[in-house]
Amino acid sequence: MTRHVNHALAVRPTRNERAAQDFTSSLRGHVLNHMAAQMKTRFETEIAPKLAQAPEDGRAVHQAMRPHPYFRFYSTMRIAAQEMVWASVDAAVRRDSERLKAVAAELPDVGGSLTLDPSLEVPRSVSAIDVHLMPGSYSAEAGEGDLAAGAVYENGLSVFSFGLMGKNLDDIGESSAFWLRHAHPEFQPKDILDLGCSVGHQTLPWARAYPGARVTGVDVAAPCLRYADGRARAQGVAAHFVQANATQLPFPDASFDLVYSSMFLHELPLKDIDAVFAEARRLLRPGGLMLHYELPPNSQLSAYDGFYLDWDCWYNNEPYYKAFRDQDPKALCAKAGFDTGKFVQTVVPSIGWYGEEAVAEAIAGPATIGGNTGRLADGVQWFVFGNWA
Ligand SMILES: C[S@@+](CC[C@H](N)C(=O)[O-])C[C@H]1O[C@@H](n2cnc3c(N)ncnc32)[C@H](O)[C@@H]1O
Repeated sequence: MTRHVNHALAVRPTRNERAAQDFTSSLRGHVLNHMAAQMKTRFETEIAPKLAQAPEDGRAVHQAMRPHPYFRFYSTMRIAAQEMVWASVDAAVRRDSERLKAVAAELPDVGGSLTLDPSLEVPRSVSAIDVHLMPGSYSAEAGEGDLAAGAVYENGLSVFSFGLMGKNLDDIGESSAFWLRHAHPEFQPKDILDLGCSVGHQTLPWARAYPGARVTGVDVAAPCLRYADGRARAQGVAAHFVQANATQLPFPDASFDLVYSSMFLHELPLKDIDAVFAEARRLLRPGGLMLHYELPPNSQLSAYDGFYLDWDCWYNNEPYYKAFRDQDPKALCAKAGFDTGKFVQTVVPSIGWYGEEAVAEAIAGPATIGGNTGRLADGVQWFVFGNWA
């Protein structure tokens, strides 16, 4: 079921719209759990046995799968469900966007800030495509003070994630912050930066995990940042939102202890990933940490699982997805000048799904990539990597 947005910036869908959202969430849950499992069985029992040789990578699996009716059925259903996600929230947000602006303007100051840069050129990787089929992407604006794209993203994500992202859609941030606090209790970051923060879902958990820290989120999309600022104030969390390109950030050298990102790198062209890592290294103080939640790399998955995750690149308007997943995370860190002896990589069970005790236990045990690592499906686990400075 949809975990409907429940703070002061919540839109007011009609009963029909709410029903459409719940239906779409359930449909996505069905496609990503039941149909995905069916498709794998079809591959193993009907397709793989007929191949001259075992497919060596996801691309080869994709080629073998494409003609199969079940793959076509699955893909059609998944694309339709993705389009329905945005369609199910769009009208409610449009109807309500002026009221949302007014509500945001009245929310109390809780010690955070919003700094927009109207001269910033939004990269074409964001503005020129409807990323994951979201109409207008993150950055389309319909006038001064517009925050509708942020509202579409948050309400859409509630439908999209069918309850798996936690009640505040912040399970990745909550799980990552819990992991870091317990795996490295001696590390007490004072300045925390969240890159590509969008509406701040994974930014606010860091402020809660490290109450004394100053937490900053950056993004190129002004409407998302306006919404993020309102959303943080609605939840009483002080966070600073800055419009900037993560490839060239307006902060001095050595000004952060933790540079974090979530679901960000796979939406960047490769050359921008290099620039972002170089910026992270420049911004970190000695002993600081760069940490990214991301999709697991193809090199650490079976050919089938690689194919399964790369589906988004081929059919969901995520053009940089596969190129990122084909990289070796450690090599990316090394290229930016990080010491590979201080590379970290782990799998963090979702707090919402497994509970805090399971995450604490996982810290003690070996972290291995399992079937649902990086997959939005029941039992999701988050893949995290980075480097100490
Ligand atoms: C999938 S969203 C990530 C949302 C958020 N981090 C989370 O996990 O909930 C990707 C975000 O990255 C932003 N973005 C893309 N390229 C960027 C860049 N070069 N610099 C800063 N932000 C960027 C987009 O505007 C978008 O809001």
